Amino acid sequence: MHHRSSLILIFLMFMTGSTIAGPEDWRIALCISEDPSHKMNVSWRTEKQLDTPLVQLALNLPQVKFYQQSWDIPAQTEEVILNDSSVVYAYSAEMAELQPSTAYAYRVGSADDWSEWLVFKTASEIEEPFNFLYFGDPQNGIRSHVSRAFRAGFKAAPDAAFITMAGDLVSVPERDYEWEALFHAADWAFRQTPLAPVMGNHAYYIGGKWLRRHSEHWQPHFKLPENGLESLPETNYFFHYQGLLFVVLNGSEQLDEQAQWLDGVLSREKSSWVVLTLHQPLYATGEGRDGEKRRKAFLSTIDKHEVDLVLQGHDHTFGRTFPLKGSKRVKEHQKGTVYIVSVSGSKQYKLDPKLNELFAVSGKNTQYYHIVHVEGSRMTLSSYSVDDVLVDEIVIKPSKIR
Ligand SMILES: [Fe+2]
Ligand SMILES: [Fe+2]
Repeated sequence: MHHRSSLILIFLMFMTGSTIAGPEDWRIALCISEDPSHKMNVSWRTEKQLDTPLVQLALNLPQVKFYQQSWDIPAQTEEVILNDSSVVYAYSAEMAELQPSTAYAYRVGSADDWSEWLVFKTASEIEEPFNFLYFGDPQNGIRSHVSRAFRAGFKAAPDAAFITMAGDLVSVPERDYEWEALFHAADWAFRQTPLAPVMGNHAYYIGGKWLRRHSEHWQPHFKLPENGLESLPETNYFFHYQGLLFVVLNGSEQLDEQAQWLDGVLSREKSSWVVLTLHQPLYATGEGRDGEKRRKAFLSTIDKHEVDLVLQGHDHTFGRTFPLKGSKRVKEHQKGTVYIVSVSGSKQYKLDPKLNELFAVSGKNTQYYHIVHVEGSRMTLSSYSVDDVLVDEIVIKPSKIR
């Protein structure tokens, strides 16, 4: 480049502040709440602090001036210090007192700095058919590989009620560029379909060490229910969605306490279907790995309440079990729990060569997405490789004790 023109370019970049990311890079995440018929959460972040961060909310009417009937919701601000000592600002807000089965438009920002209007729909208060998307660990190759898994999943289930990712969303949570890549991969989807993410063990990888506390860079990206153990805010939680009870566990700590909590929730919360998710699997698919610790903690509670489906990650392979009870295949007419391990990112482990008789199907060196369809007395788990080939499908029997 000509010397003088490069000087002008540097000057222009300085004047226009081109290093300050605008609404396209705000990492807007619509997040599930404990009551998705009446409430949704949202979080986002900026590099330059917004004076009065707000969410504006309106009914999603077709008229262009729908926003004239909008109302403001103040957002909370949290300062986040990144690894390079720079400060960013994370915001979160609750969109509460919503009507069930209703489409809303919202935008986030402040003064003249706004995102686009984004549309979501609240859950129905009664049992109605719906589906949701489940992905295994994104974690690696997020920009290069996970992006195609998200795109394929959303093309196959554009009306997904919510998205769950079974932990290890990024590999090193202190590396801000990994989060940037995650939002780059699916920002358009995260803005409009509520997220119900799971915390994996990689959230506990800090400063090159495995610690007992999780990274401070996980939570500012989401605003999740706090109806689990008080000591595990936003990483242990549950919600109801049109006849489904969806429960999220933190597989890295306080397992016995969570097992006790789980028994209470499953005894108390009435629902036709129960899906449980945690990062580390009860039945491992990866070579040299085992789920004994989780089986010891959770298996008796899962069996007692006949949990329908357990969604997991961590083993960077794919495997779906037959319906099981007490770590054994149940007979054709009996009710059992189906366990699945999956992966959406590029890191792939070796399949356990002695992968036991509990698994009906398995896969390796492949990226996947999964659609769970819930309809009356029928729940279907469909597993696709990222080229949209249906690699496995199972219709799950309802429980007779619920
Ligand atoms: Fe993991
Ligand atoms: Fe992982």
